[in-house]
This record gives sequence, structure tokens and C-alpha cells, in this order.
Amino acid sequence: MAQLWGGRFTGSINELAWDFNASISFDQRFLEQDVTGSKAHARMLAKQGIISEEERDSIVKGLDSILEDVKAGKLEITSKYEDIHSFLEANLIDRIGDAGKKVHTGRSRNDQVALDMRLYAREQVLAFSELLINMLKVLNDTMRDNVETYMPGFTHLQKAQPVTLAHHLGAYFEMFKRDALRMQDIYHRMNYCPLGAGALAGTTYPLDREYTASLLDFFGPTLNSMDSVSDRDYLIEYLSALSTVMMHLSRFSEEIIIWNSNEYRFIEIDDAYSTGSSIMPQKKNPDIAELVRGKTGRVYGDLMALLTTMKGIPLAYNKDMQEDKEAAFDAMDTVNHCLTLFTDMLRTIRFNKANMEKSAMMGFTNATDAADYLVNKGMPFRDAHSVIGRLVLACIDRGCAIDDLKIAELKEFSELFDEDIYDAISLKTCVEKRLTIGAPSPVRMKEVIALNDKFIADYSMEKR
Ligand code: ARG
Repeated sequence: MAQLWGGRFTGSINELAWDFNASISFDQRFLEQDVTGSKAHARMLAKQGIISEEERDSIVKGLDSILEDVKAGKLEITSKYEDIHSFLEANLIDRIGDAGKKVHTGRSRNDQVALDMRLYAREQVLAFSELLINMLKVLNDTMRDNVETYMPGFTHLQKAQPVTLAHHLGAYFEMFKRDALRMQDIYHRMNYCPLGAGALAGTTYPLDREYTASLLDFFGPTLNSMDSVSDRDYLIEYLSALSTVMMHLSRFSEEIIIWNSNEYRFIEIDDAYSTGSSIMPQKKNPDIAELVRGKTGRVYGDLMALLTTMKGIPLAYNKDMQEDKEAAFDAMDTVNHCLTLFTDMLRTIRFNKANMEKSAMMGFTNATDAADYLVNKGMPFRDAHSVIGRLVLACIDRGCAIDDLKIAELKEFSELFDEDIYDAISLKTCVEKRLTIGAPSPVRMKEVIALNDKFIADYSMEKR
């Protein structure tokens, strides 16, 4: 055991208590962030004349050499140390002697860990923005190819009105676009530097917090030292945004699973993203989509764990906060895998356009348009609704579509039917006439696809 706090103690800690308290098994992920933060801190201390320039150089070199050795497998991070901060400081002192003992001047592990988590989360927010933009590209490219791929739109999982594949995928574009915008929001709120807050009340050393913040690419320092060490709001926002990403992925997965079923056959999932059965030779299962749907619960759980951990903590730092890490890491790792895999799977899906169109034809998705036809010929909508209802019932009986009936048969239901009915209720007309903003007509979809291209090209994290 190599702890940073021996002086005040006469007895030694119980072994189980040591293990229970230690965080090195998971916070070793912060190695790079801790080195980056410590180097910036040492540079600021030297600029302020709190340590000498030689000491600064020696600290920076020492920290870099430790990082290098760990990466090269020459130095092992072991449970002898309580956390990654202790590991680095002890090894620094081993390597450079007394100068190493000065790196913690004007700093506490409380602001140190707050900084590490912010640096780590900030990188992750940027990584997720990129993953989301990749997803948007795949969606928009697929939309571009399918503005005239007809399919049924559903309500209650019942065929409702005809749409196109571009329109259906466009709904997911909007969802993931909002997710990408949420990443920008979180980035702009979180990008302030907590280092220099000390344990909770700042410090008597003349630290230049603006300088440290600029060295670490933050917009500036955080403004209340007690809040700086005990704020995890940005993580909660982040996990909430990730939960929403998972909710979107899960809904999409559910559709992929349905579309892939024997009954629908709208899509063919590439072999690279399917698995078989150990007993049933005919099976090709959509396991990736099912797992993404399943893992959604786990990410929600991480968010709930963090919210619950934070809810009873008085100001300022309390050890409960150490619990933020495993939940946050688990959520980030899980969503990263899900989003990456799902996007790759989507890119390789083959759409059975003929089956989609056939399904739209056979599902009476043009029934509303047939009613609208009668309205245009002078019948009140409620009467037209009832005429077409009876017509649909007759078609179900005969196992045919409205379009399959002869004009004489149609006239039995209403004298208003004429030859132009067939064109009026064709899938093409039904879709092309839906011209309102946000509707599926190819004209409108092409406008949206152009806007989507612009959104993708303009997306950035620049300071607003
Ligand atoms: N491992 C701790 C954490 O993750 C680091 C901060 C420790 N601070 C303290 N006062 N014990 O929160």
C-alpha cells in the first residue's frame, strides 16, 4: 500500500477497507488525462513563480516518461496504489526526487479528479459527435437512393398510408440530428476548467486559473470552487443524452428486427451482422439489433445510478462521487459499441424494394386517397369514409386491392367513381401528392436531403 496520506495515521488500514476504498482498478483509464492536467498545473506553477523552471521541466519530463513506460508495458499500474493520482505522484517522486513532491502544490485530488473526468468526458463527447455524424451520413445517402422506394407507413403497427423508404429513414435522421445537437449543447456547458478549485475553497497560492484553463483548451475556469469539485451535472446530461441515443437505436433495432422477419422480408441483413442457430439450420438471426435493443436498459441503469448517487450529497466533495466513474464508463463504452456496429450494419443492409412496394399495395394504404377522390367529386368526407370502408371490407372478402376492382364493380359503391380513380390511388400519386413540408413526396424529400447535407457539412464544436 502506497498512500498519499500517511502522516496523520498511527494504525494501518484494514485490508478489505483499502480495497473497498481504492479506485485504481477503474480510474487507471485517466492516466493520460492525469498526466495532461498535471503538466498544465506545473507549467502554471512555474509561470507564477511558485516552482522553478527547472522543477517544471523535470516534472513534465518525469510525467511523460511514466506515461511512455506504462504504454510500452515497462511499468505496471498495480493495486498497491489507491488511485491513478497516487500512482503518478509516487512514480514521479521515484524518478525525479524532490521536484516531484511539488507537483501537488495548490491542488487537491478533488479538483484533480474533477479535471480528469471532464477531460475524459470532453473527448468522448467529441467522439460521439463523430459517430453520430457518420450515422447521419449513412442515413442521408440511403435516403438519396430511395426517394421513390414506396413502402407502407404504419400506425399501431397496421398499414396506414404509403410513404417512401427515404421518408421513413428521414425520421431517424431527425432523431440522430437532435442527438448530435445535444452533444454540442453539453460540450458548450461543460467546457470549463475546475483545476485550481483545490479541495473545495480555492487556495492561498497565487494560481492563474485562466492560464491553466487556456493550456487545457477550456473556454475558461469554473466560477465557484465548491461547485467545481462537486458538480457532475455535465455527466448526468451526457448520460441522459446517451440514453436518448440508445432509445433511438432501440426503436430502430425493433424495426430492423420486424423488417427482417419472415413475414415482412423488407430487408436482408448482411451475413457480417447476423448469426445462426445451433440447432435450426435455416436460421439467420438479427442478433446485433436485438443486443442493441437489450443494452438500452443497461445505459438507462447507468444514468439512474448516477442520478441516485448524486441526490443526497451535501457540498462539497464526498467519496460517494467516486461512484460516478464505473457508471459513466459503462455507458460510454456500451453506446460507442452499439452506435458503431449499428451504423456499419445499416450501411450494408439490402432493401427488398419489390416486397416493400407490394406490401404497400396490398395493405389498403391508398384508402384515405380513395376517400379524398370521392370528396374531390363532391361527396362529404364522412360519407366518403364510409363508402370506402365498405369497399375495403368487400376487397378483404375477395382477397384483392381497391385498384383490382373493375370500374363497374366500383360504381356499385358510388356512382362518382370514374376511370381516373386508378391513377388517383396509385402509390406514385398517393406519395407525389403529399407535398406539405415534412411529407414524403420526392420533391419535398429532395429539399430535406439537401438541408441534411448542409447540416452535416456545417456541424462543429466552435465556441458559440
Ligand atoms: N478516487 C477519488 C474519486 O474518484 C479521487 C478523489 C479523492 N479525494 C478524496 N478527498 N479522497 O473521487
